[in-house]
Amino acid sequence: MLVRLQKESMDIWKGAVVCFLVIGLTSVTGQCPGKADIMFLVPGSDAVPGHEFFPFERFLINLVSFFNIDRDNVNVGLILYGKTPVPFAWPQPFKSQKQINTRITLMSQRLSYADELNGGNNLTAALSLMRKMFTNPTGQTGSGRRNNARQIGVVFTYDSVSIDERQSVIEAAKAARGDGITLYGVGKGQAGPEFSHIGSDYCKSFSMGRFIDGLPSVLAFLGSSLCSEMNPNVNVTELNCFPQLYQSKEPEPVQCDGRSLLFPDPENCAYFYHCRFRRPVQERCSTGMLFDPSASACNYKEFVSCYTDIKCPMQNGLFPHPTDCSKYINCFDFRPYVQKCPNNMWFDATTKGCGFTAAVACT
Ligand SMILES: *[C@@H]1O[C@H](CO)[C@@H](O)[C@H](O)[C@H]1NC(C)=O
Ligand SMILES: *[C@@H]1O[C@H](CO)[C@@H](O)[C@H](O)[C@H]1NC(C)=O
Repeated sequence: MLVRLQKESMDIWKGAVVCFLVIGLTSVTGQCPGKADIMFLVPGSDAVPGHEFFPFERFLINLVSFFNIDRDNVNVGLILYGKTPVPFAWPQPFKSQKQINTRITLMSQRLSYADELNGGNNLTAALSLMRKMFTNPTGQTGSGRRNNARQIGVVFTYDSVSIDERQSVIEAAKAARGDGITLYGVGKGQAGPEFSHIGSDYCKSFSMGRFIDGLPSVLAFLGSSLCSEMNPNVNVTELNCFPQLYQSKEPEPVQCDGRSLLFPDPENCAYFYHCRFRRPVQERCSTGMLFDPSASACNYKEFVSCYTDIKCPMQNGLFPHPTDCSKYINCFDFRPYVQKCPNNMWFDATTKGCGFTAAVACT
């Protein structure tokens, strides 16, 4: 059951308007036009038990693949927050479904961030990191906000914050909206009164009993609303919370015919398929690993070109990194190993070594 919240209502359950779902009845194909940076804030501390946390992966992947969005103009970022927020992925160009899906899947590595995350979910800190990341969307200092890009924050919350923190959450959300960020609130369980102050308007608050039951049903609403938000010709009001459902094309069916026993998932580097009696079974690499097609096995993510999107120009050798002068690519058997020069040094493509920045041309 999905429940919409009225912003003014302090007793959110009493003031709620209940909507029934019609996924599949309205299916409109189309484009989500416009430039946007979309940031997802996901609660990841040990306060969120595994069975509630795991559905996020599928939900976020489905949400991102929900649109036919303009890949050249949309960035997607991810903050995993607990006691302190972790900038899990800076807003990055939505160039390939595979990369975004993989980044989202890597979120399940929250165990590797136990020190930062465990011990509560500090929503105030997460919202302020989101503002910071929006003002510096490439992760490189001084890049500034992207011109004319809509900034959208999708804030997932788990239970209410403590009474002492309510006011700071309300203020942090207000400050983010004051920056021009459109906020969505997607909350689970006993949401406190602060929750109804997160979403930018009536159409942007979703509450559910449990994420595991509620997230799948919220998908179409959030998807269509995010999408129309990007369309400057549509003003979303209470009356058109669900203007249109955009659905990206169905993925190609995966088949074992003529394939090796193990082969990559075309949509997600962290997954692979295993042919059993000629039927493909989807499996997942363990924490920190991605499927490496050249080795037909899971490998540490730094070494898998699928994620870095770096390809070796030749079978073996040292090559400049496409975006970072302080790094270089060490190719071995077409497998790219990204390596870093010592501090204050850049990779020199002529000498194939690292040289002091003053002496090396960096383009
Ligand atoms: C949450 O983070 C803010 C900083 O953004 C800090 O001032 C506050 O004390 C934190 N709250 C808790 C409960 O740790
Ligand atoms: C949307 O709202 C803006 C500002 O209120 C208004 O100028 C514009 O005409 C509206 N657009 C539509 C299609 O109603």
